[in-house]
Amino acid sequence: MSEFDKITLTAGDKSFALPVLHPTLGQSCVDIASLPKETGCFTFDPGFGATASTRSAITYIDGDQGVLLYRGYPIEQLAEKSSFLEVAYLLLNGELPGSADFAKFEHEVSHHTMMHESLKHFFRGFHHDAHPMAMLAASVASLSAFYHDDLNVDDPADRKMAAIRLIAKMPTIAAACYRYSIGWPMGFPRNNLEYVERFLHMMFEVPSEPLQMNPVAAKALDLLFILHADHEQNASTSTVRLVGSTGANPYASIAAGITALWGPAHGGANEAVLKQLQEIGSADNVASAVLRAKDKNDPFRLMGFGHRVYKNFDPRAKIIREMCHKVLAELGVNDPLLEVAMRLEEAALKDDYFVERKLYPNVDFYSGIIYKALGIPTEMFTVMFAIARTAGWIAHWIEQHETPGARIGRPRQLYTGHDVRDYVGIDQR
Ligand code: CMC
Repeated sequence: MSEFDKITLTAGDKSFALPVLHPTLGQSCVDIASLPKETGCFTFDPGFGATASTRSAITYIDGDQGVLLYRGYPIEQLAEKSSFLEVAYLLLNGELPGSADFAKFEHEVSHHTMMHESLKHFFRGFHHDAHPMAMLAASVASLSAFYHDDLNVDDPADRKMAAIRLIAKMPTIAAACYRYSIGWPMGFPRNNLEYVERFLHMMFEVPSEPLQMNPVAAKALDLLFILHADHEQNASTSTVRLVGSTGANPYASIAAGITALWGPAHGGANEAVLKQLQEIGSADNVASAVLRAKDKNDPFRLMGFGHRVYKNFDPRAKIIREMCHKVLAELGVNDPLLEVAMRLEEAALKDDYFVERKLYPNVDFYSGIIYKALGIPTEMFTVMFAIARTAGWIAHWIEQHETPGARIGRPRQLYTGHDVRDYVGIDQR
């Protein structure tokens, strides 16, 4: 946090002060709202590397120290002691629930898990090999067709209901995407099960025989959901906020977040990591993969490496790395890709290129190996991320609507096009 309360700028012969805003933790921010009026200039920050887009009290990251806090609680403690649903409550409400509050929340979530039957018809419009992220984004956007007319985004009770519905229905829709892609009948949620077990049942249960659920699988997935639940103003959360700032329906806002998450630079990296590890194939090919990643004439990057904010180990990656060994051992899975991943990590971490640029494994590096061990197909990895991140997205959407004086998000640009010119008819061009 900076020690000064204002920054003085000089523009020509004029000097003026910009206030410095202090956070409870982390970096201070210069309030540049008066800059256009004082100087006629905007700020220029493509990729938002130096821009805080909002105040938020939900999640804190210290990228240099590798710290991640949800509502002040360290991710390591939540990963060890909490559950995904409790974390979702925490993100939404700001405090951990007492047992009565949690029972109420769990009851509400488990009683909004079903999809409208009409929504199931939408799936038939997709080709069987449609990517599940495309189906998920479209299905979540279409929830706004079911819950729009009587929804008032300015009403806290309506906002809470949207949050419950989204957290409750996301696993049902996600499992439907998977089952549709393999031609299985869509399952119904079993409300007597806990959140993650219920999802695994919807994914893997067949009408003809009961599913033997391995508790190790449910525990591992719950932990992955905790680690993915929120990450302050990342690309998808910022997308949700930008769409939300227009007053759009919350289901439409979250669908926009899903599409932003899909890209390989963001949540789509987990799918890309696994495909890349499969392509590398064996520890013998690791050195040449590292060489390619360093070659500026080759667009190839090591997927699952690097992060805009973490310039130290991603604390989520540390937890997942440990968990990966444990889960594979407990499930009795011997996946040669784990060996490739470990050799790749080792090679990158001692290579000057990665060291100088502070490129460490991120949350997506080891998660795919765990998803694979749980029987989740590669195309569904980013869908897993989306289920978990829904808790964070909707918490941010609510926070945004609770913030007094919030305005529509409307960045400006540095125009690089033509000066004004006259239209010329087609016969004279
Ligand atoms: N492999 C090789 N070089 C890399 C990598 C990588 N994975 N990541 C960054 N670099 C280099 C990049 O070429 C640049 O080099 P130079 O300074 O010589 O031009 C330097 O490191 C800085 O990279 P950047 O692209 O300016 O960094 P950024 O903050 O804009 O991008 C990132 C961050 C995560 C998009 C990027 O590191 C990346 O593409 N990583 C691979 C994809 C990935 O794993 N994404 C998941 C992120 S974590 C989960 C999530 O956000 O959902």
